[in-house]
Amino acid sequence: MREMKYSKGKLNNEISPLTIPEIDFIMEEMNKGKESESVKRHVQPSVSIHEKINGASEQIKNLFEDIRKEENIQLETVEGIKAEIVPIIEEAAKNPDIYYLFKEMQAKNEYTYKHNIGVGIIATYLGTKLGLSKESLSDLTLAAILHDVGKTGIPERLLEKPGKLTETEYEEIKRHTIYGYELLKCIPGLALTALQHHEREDGQGYPHKLKGSNIYYLSKIVAIADVFHAMSSDRVYHQAMPFYKVIEQMNRDVFGKFNPKMLLVFINQLMGTLVGKEVMLTNQQIGTIIMINPYEPLKVLMKTKSGIIDLRLEKELQIERIIGK
Ligand SMILES: [Fe+2]
Repeated sequence: MREMKYSKGKLNNEISPLTIPEIDFIMEEMNKGKESESVKRHVQPSVSIHEKINGASEQIKNLFEDIRKEENIQLETVEGIKAEIVPIIEEAAKNPDIYYLFKEMQAKNEYTYKHNIGVGIIATYLGTKLGLSKESLSDLTLAAILHDVGKTGIPERLLEKPGKLTETEYEEIKRHTIYGYELLKCIPGLALTALQHHEREDGQGYPHKLKGSNIYYLSKIVAIADVFHAMSSDRVYHQAMPFYKVIEQMNRDVFGKFNPKMLLVFINQLMGTLVGKEVMLTNQQIGTIIMINPYEPLKVLMKTKSGIIDLRLEKELQIERIIGK
């Protein structure tokens, strides 16, 4: 184990290639509301919010079943979601312990419906950390709840099919973006999010292979929340990934698939929820995370029985898992 000491050059070499204003932005975001978060960190959501989330999932299930039957979405339905479900999601997203929320939101069944609520909460949480205005935040929450509404145009046997999809089936599932756009086209912000939430910064997404600056910003936030929730959930064809593995995998995509600024803010916030938690390293050593490095959020500072370990300096070491989770 080495001491926590850096040469100036070494530290500079390790800083990710973001500009200084971008780094300042990330640090500023990390510090927002820190005091209140540290006080509330171990306060878990009340039973009532848990019940409200379950009720909202049930409501969305019924609404989506109606949309599937009618092949149409009424303006009153959207207004109803805005009035009844958006406030529940906003309340849930205020809870700073996203790690606890992650455990709560792991969809064990009825993935399609729970996914909409889960993505709503995570997107709203991220939107808050990105400093969106109250108005944009409520647009984001509504857009996130309805991002996959186009799946009501896809046969359920295809959505729930265990095992690998054929190429034709996958192409059909991809069309949920276009169906969503068509259902929501009288409300442009919602329609664009439904259409573009699978587009990726590098142009490798679908349906239109748009690149970074051509993608609507709310779609970019929903894309991050969507992938995070999907990886964290049990599906018919894969098991939920552990929390830390999800973060690790998303971190690999900082430059490429997602908006790097948004994703770094998200990863920093997620890693922040692990401060104080016990983890096991790849060499089986156990320690408690005491600090997150904002430039490389997975390279944490840890306290172990034998002293402090700085993962920035221990290149061969990584976090293997969070203990007991
Ligand atoms: Fe989708």
